[in-house]
Amino acid sequence: MAKSPSFACQSCGAVYNRWRGKCEACGGWNTVAEEAASHPMVGPSSMRPSRAKGRVFPLEGLSGETKDAPRIRTGNGEFDRVAGGGLVPGSVILLGGDPGIGKSTLLIQVSAALARSGHRVAYISGEEAVAQVRLRAERLGLASAPVELAAETNVEDIVATLGSGAPPRLAVIDSIQTMWTETVESAPGTVSQVRGSAQALIRFAKQHGTSIILVGHVTKDGQIAGPRVVEHMVDCVASFEGDAGHHFRILRASKNRFGPTDEIGVFEMTDRGLAEVPNPSELFLAGRDLASPGTAVFAGMEGTRPLLVEIQALVAPSPLGTPRRAVVGWDPARLSMVLAVLEAHGGVRLGQHDVYLNVAGGLRIQEPAADLAAAAALVSSLTGTPLPTDGAYFGEIGLSGAVRPVTQIGARIKEAQKLGFARAIGPPPPGEAAPPAALAHVADLVARIASGGGGK
Ligand code: TYD
Ligand code: MG
Repeated sequence: MAKSPSFACQSCGAVYNRWRGKCEACGGWNTVAEEAASHPMVGPSSMRPSRAKGRVFPLEGLSGETKDAPRIRTGNGEFDRVAGGGLVPGSVILLGGDPGIGKSTLLIQVSAALARSGHRVAYISGEEAVAQVRLRAERLGLASAPVELAAETNVEDIVATLGSGAPPRLAVIDSIQTMWTETVESAPGTVSQVRGSAQALIRFAKQHGTSIILVGHVTKDGQIAGPRVVEHMVDCVASFEGDAGHHFRILRASKNRFGPTDEIGVFEMTDRGLAEVPNPSELFLAGRDLASPGTAVFAGMEGTRPLLVEIQALVAPSPLGTPRRAVVGWDPARLSMVLAVLEAHGGVRLGQHDVYLNVAGGLRIQEPAADLAAAAALVSSLTGTPLPTDGAYFGEIGLSGAVRPVTQIGARIKEAQKLGFARAIGPPPPGEAAPPAALAHVADLVARIASGGGGK
């Protein structure tokens, strides 16, 4: 067997036959490092001929089989929501997140919930000793749950342990970066070890119908460390987000072969672990400063769930030649666009002003429907006019200045009413939905705020 190249990019997994300063594949500098030869793809185990070689199955004949394998609800509602309604047997989830964000806490809670409903669950830690994991479980009041704990880093041993007896319903591997397989000679944590270990575990999952959750560390710029190829190998990639200054955490899927990717799970970190937050709007609106200018409530949607959040803007005369634009939790390109439209179609001059925009609570909004709320907050801050406290905004702003319809208007209005907002301010309704306080153009928005009432 020819020796495989022995240099690999530690960021994207590209392999080279000599060292180089820059990875051609992902553009990373100083990411290429030497690794011992032997490639996991051509390792000894994959050289063995497979008995199932060449077998084909008719598509229609398989339907009965999939019906027999329904989703397994873990009992943790927010986790199940993001997974697409529960765990699919044999599926592999990669869970990324900053150190200390609560990945291990979440997964021990999910494991305990599933184990309590009678399923075999194994939690394998490569980072903590069994005693430490047990201590945490005790602190969370989960010590009585029949979860099998192990501190192990060798994938062959793990596969042997999991394979003895009935295969587990769920196995948690915390974390994939600490795992190593004998088929690859490099040190643990290197890209070929991570890839080789993931491959062996995924093979086990598919063969035995065990769902596996791999914990993955993230690098400074938020990527799951190690090869991006692991992201392509697994069925679902989820990240656990939040920041140190806030006590709530958001679970979000960026890839899901078995479900939607726009659902989020919301948790609150308490001294008794992660509490599910089934109604996140209340949490995100708590502590709102009603009377000051520059804050608008956005009636948003995250997947199928409406979510009200506060958008804060600060507009101040700039001492700089090129005024500052800073945005947290929203797309800077959309901010530029909203500013341009406000200037062109609403007569709002912000060219000499610094502009700061912040989504309260550390949430990240991706919907264009937030345009109108952002615009309202900006105009409110510029003019020093507080917006009506009983109004919630939604609507996409087009380049012509028109306020365009968005999806699920009914659900947004209902959520706003539930939380005491008498007026949902948005695009003119297409007909049947409960009519919001309609706004057809950004010029109307500017005029209303200037006359002292953002929503009348
Ligand atoms: P952890 O799950 O160890 O994070 P990760 O696995 O993502 O690195 O979470 C550790 C943090 O969570 C730590 O800073 C303390 C906090 N925490 C609580 O606030 N309450 C709790 O009940 C637990 C178990 C942890
Ligand atoms: Mg951990």
